[in-house]
Amino acid sequence: MSRRCRRWVAGVFALALCTGADAKDFKLGLIVPGSHAWSQAAERMGEALEKRSDGEHTVSIFPSGQLGDESQMMRQLQTGALDMAFLTVAEMSNRVTDFGALYAPYLADNVAEADTLLHADTAQGLLEQLPRKAGVVGIGYGIATMRLMLTTYGIDDVGDIDGHKMRITPFDPIKDFYNILGAASTPMPLTDVYDAMANGQVDGVDADIELVWKLNLYDHADTLLYSNHMMFPMVGVVSGRVWANLGEADRKLVRETMSASLDSLFDQYVEVTEEMRRKVEGTDVEIMEVGPEFFGEKLDVWEQRWRERTPVLEELRADAERLL
Ligand code: BEZ
Repeated sequence: MSRRCRRWVAGVFALALCTGADAKDFKLGLIVPGSHAWSQAAERMGEALEKRSDGEHTVSIFPSGQLGDESQMMRQLQTGALDMAFLTVAEMSNRVTDFGALYAPYLADNVAEADTLLHADTAQGLLEQLPRKAGVVGIGYGIATMRLMLTTYGIDDVGDIDGHKMRITPFDPIKDFYNILGAASTPMPLTDVYDAMANGQVDGVDADIELVWKLNLYDHADTLLYSNHMMFPMVGVVSGRVWANLGEADRKLVRETMSASLDSLFDQYVEVTEEMRRKVEGTDVEIMEVGPEFFGEKLDVWEQRWRERTPVLEELRADAERLL
């Protein structure tokens, strides 16, 4: 019997009202550390869910890949061993190719534009594929800050990336991007990046300003190429099996509290991105601001390759043309 029901049983007409699902402590996994904005958003969701369910439901958060990497978490979500996760869209694109189109270079120029695009029809429509193709329910998108390149050596032009070992998040769109630039793309989870820079295993990393600052990646870097070359969406998911066992009222609660916490990330990053940049400016790293012209025709090669892989890219470009 649920906690709320046990309280009501003390009353006279309790049992008839006690038709909801049992109290639940939802397990939510993330790859990022506890200090990361995604973990803080997960905490906000937990607080809201507990409050709105009168203490019935809680969320236990497992950051820093404590439950495994994202592909291991996906498997746990599919079996119902894990209830929820905030996962990179990178992981989704490894299972549903269409999601890869969200990484088109310069599709969005900043987090505010990413907010508009990810709430528009094409991106929202992608979420509908998740129950069938990945066994999870996609509640909505969150975001990280725009992608940058941090290198242990100086860069003057795009040719300077050629031949260097660059850490990437393990997924195809970014692998293609670096391969087209001539780099030896080196897939590596976030948790290994600091050491890989420190011991020379890589010459640079694809990252964002939050990671550069909060993981101290600037410690072993020379140049930060402030390229904003891709957005980096996240998706909040619930295990399909767990969802199937939730009543309508609990589904609504989970959907509303998770959506609100995901949405809060867009405003938060619009506010704090410049602040984190100023902090990195206070280090020894040289910041070099560049736009699409830095990459030139390399971007056309990526675009061509991905237009052949998914029709969604053209639809997203059309959304961007219309909305941004
Ligand atoms: C990354 O692999 O670079 C990454 C993962 C999670 C959040 C942000 C970045």
